[in-house]
Amino acid sequence: MTTILVTGGTGYIGSHTAAALIQSGYEVVILDNLYNSNEHVLERIQTITGVLPKFYQCDILDKAGLKKIFDENKIDAVIHFAGYKAVGESCEIPLTYYENNISGSINLYEAMNDAGVKTLVFSSSATVYGAPKSVPIREDFPTHTTNPYGSTKLMNEMILADVCASDPEWSVLLLRYFNPIGAHQSGLLGEVPNGIPNNLVPYIARVANGTLEFLRVWGNDYPTVDGTGVRDYIHVCDLADGHIAAVKYALEHKGADYINLGTGNGYSVLQVLHAYEKACGKELPYKIMERRPGDIATCYADTEKAFKLLGWKAKYNIDDMCRDSWNFTVKNPDGIV
Ligand code: NAD
Ligand code: UD1
Repeated sequence: MTTILVTGGTGYIGSHTAAALIQSGYEVVILDNLYNSNEHVLERIQTITGVLPKFYQCDILDKAGLKKIFDENKIDAVIHFAGYKAVGESCEIPLTYYENNISGSINLYEAMNDAGVKTLVFSSSATVYGAPKSVPIREDFPTHTTNPYGSTKLMNEMILADVCASDPEWSVLLLRYFNPIGAHQSGLLGEVPNGIPNNLVPYIARVANGTLEFLRVWGNDYPTVDGTGVRDYIHVCDLADGHIAAVKYALEHKGADYINLGTGNGYSVLQVLHAYEKACGKELPYKIMERRPGDIATCYADTEKAFKLLGWKAKYNIDDMCRDSWNFTVKNPDGIV
C-alpha cells in the first residue's frame, strides 16, 4: 500500500484530502501541531472512511519529531499543508510566518531527504501571481507577492525548484490553489475560522446563521459584471481530488512543476452572496463599502495544464459549494468539537 504523510492533515484542506486519500486506497499518516485544528477531526475522518488515520501531534519546527515519523513509517510521498495562512496577520508578525512556513518547511524537506523520501506535493497559492495582467491566469505568468504570507509561498516554490534541480530523484508538484470554499458533503468536515472571518464565504456563513449582521462588500466599482470582485471559487472536495491526482503524478514523474487548481470560472461577490441565499433559503443583508486595500478586480485560473497533466478538473459549481458550506455551518454551530 502506498503511504502518504499529510502535514497539516487535521486542517481544512488537509482533512478533506486525508479522507479522500483513504477512500482512494492510500494509507495516510497525519502530522499536525493542532495550532489551527483539533483531534476531533480524526474521529470524523474515521466516520467518513471507516479508518482512523495514524496521527502524530508534531510541529514541523521540531526536527527530532520529524525524524521519528520517518523512522517509524515507510512513507512514499508527502503532501505538505502545514503552515500559517492569514494574509493580514502575516504583515503584523512576518518573522513568525517566515519561521513557521519557511524554517518549518526546510526542516520537513531535510527530514524527507535524510529518509530518502523525495516525492512531495506542496500547497502553494494563486497569491503568487499578485495582480495578473490578464485572465485566465496561466502557470507561466510572472510571479509577484505583496505580503509576507505570499512571499513564504513563493520562496517555498523557489526552494523546491532548486532542490529538484540539484537532485534528479526529487519529484515536486507545486499546486497553486485559487479560492477554496465549501465543505464535505457529510457535514463532518469544513472550515472553522478563528474569530471574525476575513474570507468571503466564511463571513457570509456567519451572516446566514445570524452571528454577523451583514456582509460588507469591499467595493462595487471594479470593472466586473456587477462592479464587485471576481474570484475562482473551488469546492474543497474538488481540491482534495486534485491532490490525489497530483500525488499519483508525482510518484510517476521526476522534477518540479507548477499547477493551478481552480475551476476556470469567476464569480462576483454578489453572485456568491445570491448563491448562498439560495442555499440557506433567506435573503442576506449587505452594505457596499470602500475597496479593501490590496484587492484585485478579477482572478481566475487557466485549468488546461491541470487537465493535461493530471487528468483532473473540478466537478462542483458555486451552488454546490454554497449548499455544502451551509450544511456544515448548520450542523456544527460550535465548530468541530
Ligand atoms: P488550516 O489552517 O486549516 O490547516 C493548516 C494546518 O497546519 C492546521 O491544522 C495547523 O494546526 C497546522 N500547522 C500550522 N503550523 C504548523 C506547524 N508548525 N507544525 C505542524 N502543523 C502546523 O489551513 P488550510 O486552509 O487547510 O490550508 C492548508 C494549506 O493550503 C496552507 O499551507 C495554506 O497556506 C494553503 N492555502 C490555503 C488556501 C485557503 O484559502 N484555505 C489558499 C491557498 C493556499
Ligand atoms: C485571500 C488571500 C489569498 C488567499 C485567499 C484564499 C488576500 C489579499 N488574499 O484572497 O492569499 O489565497 O484569500 O483563502 O487576502 N470580500 C468582501 N467582503 C468580505 C470578504 C471578502 O466583499 O467580507 C470580497 C473581496 O473583496 C474579494 C472576494 O470577496 O473580492 C474574495 O475575498 P477573500 O475570500 O478574502 O479571498 P481573496 O481576497 O481572493
